[in-house]
Amino acid sequence: MRLRNVPGSKELIELSPYCVNKPAQYRGRWNTYFENDAPIHVEIGMGKGQFIREMALLHPEINYLGVELFASVLVRAVQKVEEEEIPNLRFLWVDAADLPEIFAPGEVDRIYLNFSDPWPKARHAKRRLTSVPFLNRYREFLSPDGQLEFKTDNQALFSFSLESVPEAGWTLTAHTFDLHHNEKMCVGNVMTEYEAKFSGLGQPICKLIALPPAPETDSNKD
Ligand SMILES: C[S@@+](CC[C@H](N)C(=O)[O-])C[C@H]1O[C@@H](n2cnc3c(N)ncnc32)[C@H](O)[C@@H]1O
Repeated sequence: MRLRNVPGSKELIELSPYCVNKPAQYRGRWNTYFENDAPIHVEIGMGKGQFIREMALLHPEINYLGVELFASVLVRAVQKVEEEEIPNLRFLWVDAADLPEIFAPGEVDRIYLNFSDPWPKARHAKRRLTSVPFLNRYREFLSPDGQLEFKTDNQALFSFSLESVPEAGWTLTAHTFDLHHNEKMCVGNVMTEYEAKFSGLGQPICKLIALPPAPETDSNKD
């Protein structure tokens, strides 16, 4: 994602009804925030928000929270939905690393990671959003019945993720190296901004679905 400083973006985010300020105050109370008991689905690294906006419009029975690190990117998503009223869509200007402080255990039903930054240098591997440290953070707040869905065009990041998922104790339930030609996994696929761009260039899209480890109980603890 190319980053340009967008003057006034922080102020726009703070004032937008779509952005939740100080989101940690809703930890364990997101259903109260949305005023319903609908499941909560989170896209981490939502960029300009094309995917999560479309998902929210297609699935009004689900609450969607988009997470983005950079104000200059998030503000683009805010500007796109400004004129619309989408009550089941909100944005969080936070770092994915801080999500366990924002969601209580089991509070999130699904996590989407779409075209996450690849961080190609080995010394930056821990920054990849599918690395073991991040998967460990997600399991703190993902429901035991929940799932993680990850899409990318980056073969190296995908191979890395196919290894880190079992390494973190998660279960890989499905994966494909060519989503758009996989009849089963492509059903209901909503394209992200990056997905449209890369598939338009003829690049295949990879996808995996993973389930979190079973919660620790007295009987399965070491
Ligand atoms: C390559 S873009 C993909 C955007 C969008 N998901 C798509 O598929 O079109 C990755 C996005 O993840 C965001 N991001 C990277 N690291 C993050 C983190 N630690 N927490 C939240 N967002 C992050 C980046 O700022 C960027 O907007």
